[in-house]
Amino acid sequence: MSAKESIHGSWSSGWAFMLAATGSAVGLGNIWKFPYITGQNGGAAFVMVYLLCVLLIGIPVMIAEITLGRRGRQSPMNTMYTLAIESGHSPLWKYLGFMGVFAGFIILSYYSVIAGWAVYYMILSSMSEFTGITAAGANAKFGNFTQDPVYLLFFHTIFMLMTMYVVSLGVRSGLEKATKFMMPALFVILLILDGYAMNTNSFDKGVGFLFQPDFSKLTWSVVLTAMGHAFFTLSLGMGAIMVYGSYMPKRASIAKASFVIAIADVLVALLAGIAIFPVVFANGLEPSSGPGLLFITLPLAFGHMPWGALFGTLFFILVTFAAWTSSISLLEPAVTWLVENHRFKRIKATFVAGLIIWVLGIFTVFSFNKWAFKFTLIGKTYENGFFNIFDILTANIMLPLGGMLIAIFAGWYMSQQASRDELEVKEWMYMTWRFLVRYISPFAILIVFLNVIGVIKL
Ligand code: TRP
Repeated sequence: MSAKESIHGSWSSGWAFMLAATGSAVGLGNIWKFPYITGQNGGAAFVMVYLLCVLLIGIPVMIAEITLGRRGRQSPMNTMYTLAIESGHSPLWKYLGFMGVFAGFIILSYYSVIAGWAVYYMILSSMSEFTGITAAGANAKFGNFTQDPVYLLFFHTIFMLMTMYVVSLGVRSGLEKATKFMMPALFVILLILDGYAMNTNSFDKGVGFLFQPDFSKLTWSVVLTAMGHAFFTLSLGMGAIMVYGSYMPKRASIAKASFVIAIADVLVALLAGIAIFPVVFANGLEPSSGPGLLFITLPLAFGHMPWGALFGTLFFILVTFAAWTSSISLLEPAVTWLVENHRFKRIKATFVAGLIIWVLGIFTVFSFNKWAFKFTLIGKTYENGFFNIFDILTANIMLPLGGMLIAIFAGWYMSQQASRDELEVKEWMYMTWRFLVRYISPFAILIVFLNVIGVIKL
């Protein structure tokens, strides 16, 4: 093993890195979260801001995060520490890594509960439970399920065990292979769903909702949610992609990988939106109905199409897989750190971190039933207590903040020679990236933050 390889192993090729990182990016964020927050934030104007954020902030920050990871070759804390020292700056940068681990714990704690819903829906579909279902029926099914904390806890436990199983094996076993067949299959089944949506009487309305912006609906809080989602969906700002980058072979191209990952990720989200909104409008459902949107609308589609039970089962299997390849990347930074700094065996590190996350998940389990309190924040009302608090704290605050610091570090603190050496792209591309991470991404994030809290008014 060369000195510049991670002690945790590495991907078999640049292609394997791309698959794993795409697996991390594509997940519940694209299929479940993107449609429901688009519905809550008024549709196309939100979508446009999200796309702009992916382009101007997401891709440059992704390139920065992978670059730091490959240069440091360790857990995010130790990578930040090493790189800061190497370039003559404060070791305090390592706390960026800790913030990431903390964010990852909170995200995974609720992510796992929602992934558990997909597991349950896979079972329902395989028992033909959706055949001929009505909108009211689909609503009631979802309502009854989420009212019951015992069910939610059970499926949350199953999903956490699945995540811990793969992480304890290490990044290479299983993970690479899973993504290889999952991605194409997910694409195909989303296209089938889009075909169904095309045959509803509300296709134009659904697609218009996604793509015809009404910019009067934009508020700074909507902009923040769109920006936060760009980070969430690309797995940025908490060290997940940094750790994956640390396993990346030296010869693979960081810039090319980042574009491919971002394009695949956006495509899956848009295909999911196109599948869902026509069905929402055709059945008189509310686009702003919240986290249940996917689980209420798609049973209607599967319940009324030929081979619906089969396609439905396949779809929820694929959603579970997509969530699985994402959840492992949320746990990985903490595990690498426990192995490096506390000499834990990988399996023990996974168990300890996983247990803490599992316990945290209980807050989300109760957010949909016993503790479903409402609260209002900057003009928006949220109905699902802790779940919403966890989501806002991470997606809207910690990830953009983490991303801003990553951009600042890569653009201002890391030596040009180091980043040039990792990126190895044409001069104009390097200069464009450097300009974006130095000036555009951090300031854009800062401006959105300041406007939301009302310090400045644009
Ligand atoms: N990107 C994944 C999704 O869209 C979720 C995810 C995985 C994530 N790793 C992350 C989000 C790291 C933020 C940070 O479902």
